[in-house]
Amino acid sequence: MKIQTKAVHAGDRKKAGSFIPVTTPIYTASSYSYGDMTELDRVFAREQAGPAYARYDNPTNAALEELAGELEGGHGALACSSGMAAIHISMLAALADRRKSVVAANAMYGATVSLLMSILEPSGVAVHWVDICDLEAVKKALEEHRPGAVLMETVSNPLLRVGAIDRIAEMTKAAGAALIVDNTFSTPMLVRPLELGANIAVHSATKYLAGHGDVLGGLAVTDEEHYEPLRGFSRIYGPVLGPFEAYMTMRGIKTFALRMERQCKNACQVASWLASHPGVERVYFPADPSHPDRQTIQRLLPEGLYGAMVSFELKDAGQGEVFTWMDRLKLVVRATSLGDVHTMVLYPSMSSHREISPKQRERMGIRDNLIRISVGIEAAEDILADLEQAFG
Ligand SMILES: Cc1ncc(COP(=O)(O)O)c(C=O)c1O
Repeated sequence: MKIQTKAVHAGDRKKAGSFIPVTTPIYTASSYSYGDMTELDRVFAREQAGPAYARYDNPTNAALEELAGELEGGHGALACSSGMAAIHISMLAALADRRKSVVAANAMYGATVSLLMSILEPSGVAVHWVDICDLEAVKKALEEHRPGAVLMETVSNPLLRVGAIDRIAEMTKAAGAALIVDNTFSTPMLVRPLELGANIAVHSATKYLAGHGDVLGGLAVTDEEHYEPLRGFSRIYGPVLGPFEAYMTMRGIKTFALRMERQCKNACQVASWLASHPGVERVYFPADPSHPDRQTIQRLLPEGLYGAMVSFELKDAGQGEVFTWMDRLKLVVRATSLGDVHTMVLYPSMSSHREISPKQRERMGIRDNLIRISVGIEAAEDILADLEQAFG
């Protein structure tokens, strides 16, 4: 089945007695009883399928996990309480039987950088930063540091660099390491990292998958090797998604393919409009013919589906001018997220990359005149009219 069909049908409509609910109910029970102790014992031993305790399993989450596994082409999935929880538990599962060393892309979401620097590094994991779009540098880092895992984003936040997941997966596999890819910006509509050789694909489901700005959630979709370690850790650590959020995420996913197509189309229009505006110094967008990762983009992203994130630098501007420009917006929402149905703007230096020092931000290429737009599903002309009037 095509991704548009899977998004609507996979995981749902499990038989419950003689009837089949058309959407999976929200199971709020924290524990489950069975006919007798022998049966309950079999469930605990995982010899019989079924939920026992909400930290281990939940039927609503199970439906979402089946859906996510289908979309990403994985062996199985874990629904987590946030994207950050999904990244953290994926790192723990990948490093469980490997060297406690990570090669990480030096261009990633700020909290992911903080997770590595403030939590994993102090707990004994060596972290080595690399330009993930420089394959020679990745090869060298793998040889030099022999890491247990490599962590990268499909399309990086916020400068939209696109790493060659397929080539990196080959090298990572040969080095005996696990490849974890944060697929939040691209979604399985554009790229399916596991099909390109990655071991775990993670998502902030808060973003495009749920899509309506009303859920915080994460997903980790794994290959066969990492599925049991991931779930085993989760049973102890408990970073699981609540059943209401699982329901909301599934509801959102049903329309994600439609939304994504529309948002990608709108983003192409916004990016080319910004590129020709005299008030704009530079636009970052994967469709740009002079994009530094052009070859990878042409190989990995489907024609016309370049994602719906556009970043740009406001000409001759510092924080003051950026704030004025953002304050003038009437339709576009000033808020710190992405992937919602409405168009949003964010100032990376203040929000997504706030915890990163100014020096490190500069090294990452995040300048003080950089604005990130998450393009929504509105009529493109209304988005452009709002941006236009903000230039004054
Ligand atoms: C690329 C990326 N990964 C992960 C996250 C973290 O997701 P969450 O806020 O759901 O924990 C974010 C949040 O903005 C993100 O942009």
